[in-house]
Amino acid sequence: MKVVYASRSGNVEKFVMKLGRNVDSMRIADGSEKVDEDFIIITYTDGVGSIPRQVETFLKANRDHLKAAAVSGNERRFPNTFAGAADKIAAMFDVPIIVTFDGEGGGDAVDDVVDFLEENS
Ligand SMILES: Cc1cc2nc3c(=O)[nH]c(=O)nc-3n(C[C@H](O)[C@H](O)[C@H](O)COP(=O)(O)O)c2cc1C
Repeated sequence: MKVVYASRSGNVEKFVMKLGRNVDSMRIADGSEKVDEDFIIITYTDGVGSIPRQVETFLKANRDHLKAAAVSGNERRFPNTFAGAADKIAAMFDVPIIVTFDGEGGGDAVDDVVDFLEENS
């Protein structure tokens, strides 16, 4: 399954690199991209726990292929809205959240996403 991701300052990109070389990944630029295969979204959280605008645009246009999400946030700086994009994606697109993670993540969060990809490909 494809991994589509959005990264503003590099954390999510580093997380995606930890998934390994075999992952078929694509970075969202402006949200106008189209995919014709199933994918998971991995995104950061924007202001007040929101979905980044270009990610929401992309997901609305490609929702039929969206299977799950993993979301980064900053727990120390935003304890009340930590990884808040996760709940919003789950509610708006009716998909499971694989994991939320702090910053560039690692360890168990990486394993959770790798397992999901293996189980669903
Ligand atoms: C303007 C701004 C608002 C943010 N708001 C939140 C937030 O509400 N909740 C949260 O958990 N993280 C928030 N973050 C933190 C980012 O989601 C977090 O640092 C993430 O790891 C960034 O990923 P990236 O480096 O791939 O862009 C915010 C960051 C910025 C710059």
